[in-house]
Amino acid sequence: MLELNNVTISYTNQPAVCNFHLTLGQGEICSIVGESGSGKTTVVRAILGLLSGGGQVTEGEIRFEGKPLLSNTKEEWRKLRGTDISMIFQDSGAMTNQTRTIGKQFVEYIRTHERISRKDAWDKGVYMLERMCLPNGDNIMKSYPFQLSGGMRQRVGIAMSMTFRPKLLLADEPTSALDVTTQAQIVRQMMELRNEYKTSMLVVTHNLGVAAYMSDQIVVMKNGKIVDAGSRDDILYRSESEYTRNLLNAVPSLGGVRYV
Ligand SMILES: Nc1ncnc2c1ncn2[C@@H]1O[C@H](COP(=O)(O)OP(=O)(O)OP(=O)(O)O)[C@@H](O)[C@H]1O
Ligand SMILES: [Mg+2]
Repeated sequence: MLELNNVTISYTNQPAVCNFHLTLGQGEICSIVGESGSGKTTVVRAILGLLSGGGQVTEGEIRFEGKPLLSNTKEEWRKLRGTDISMIFQDSGAMTNQTRTIGKQFVEYIRTHERISRKDAWDKGVYMLERMCLPNGDNIMKSYPFQLSGGMRQRVGIAMSMTFRPKLLLADEPTSALDVTTQAQIVRQMMELRNEYKTSMLVVTHNLGVAAYMSDQIVVMKNGKIVDAGSRDDILYRSESEYTRNLLNAVPSLGGVRYV
């Protein structure tokens, strides 16, 4: 459903990502791991057509359900983003407008993609919040982002991003800002949503423990290149890459449990 072939991405003359490959099937979860600056965010933003700083895909192709994304018009992107392809970033709370309540923002988001009354959009928002284990969705809807904890804000972000049952969710460090217990809960909830909605997920994480716990596939990046890629078990138990083995040795635990 998502395919990247030989993708090279540059901000300057020097490519930031080189010859990137990925094939993601329906309902599959793939993690991208690797050190800071290795190009993880660049890959995710390229898939969304949202490269910052004049970044460009200079080679290769990106296909979503067989259709090339790189030639999408603004109008085609508008239809795709937030519905079939959805995204979540490190601190959704920082992304959302601090001066408007969650409810206002959630209702507006729903109504830009669906013809639906304010009341129905509100109810849909409350339902999604409760799906993400946020008790009393009505109260959350009436809150301002700064009134919520980081973990709650991130749950709100995930609830929003899953509203239209996206076929593909791109998540850039969705849990990195949170404590390990909250990380573990959120990762588990994302997996439940994946099982129910059959959403494919591409998850960027620093934490190989998170990747090991949730992924079907793992891609390891370094300096803009894939240094290792394969099924979860191939990477965890059969990798011959020294870089991967060093990452594995440094894995922290997730919610008190080590998954590798
Ligand atoms: N807007 C930009 N303009 C110019 N160069 C950029 C821009 N964004 C990223 N880069 C460069 O691209 C390379 C990859 O950066 P990227 O943000 O994709 O890494 P990352 O793996 O997501 O790192 P981190 O783990 O710190 O988030 C880096 O060398 C970075 O300097
Ligand atoms: Mg990044």
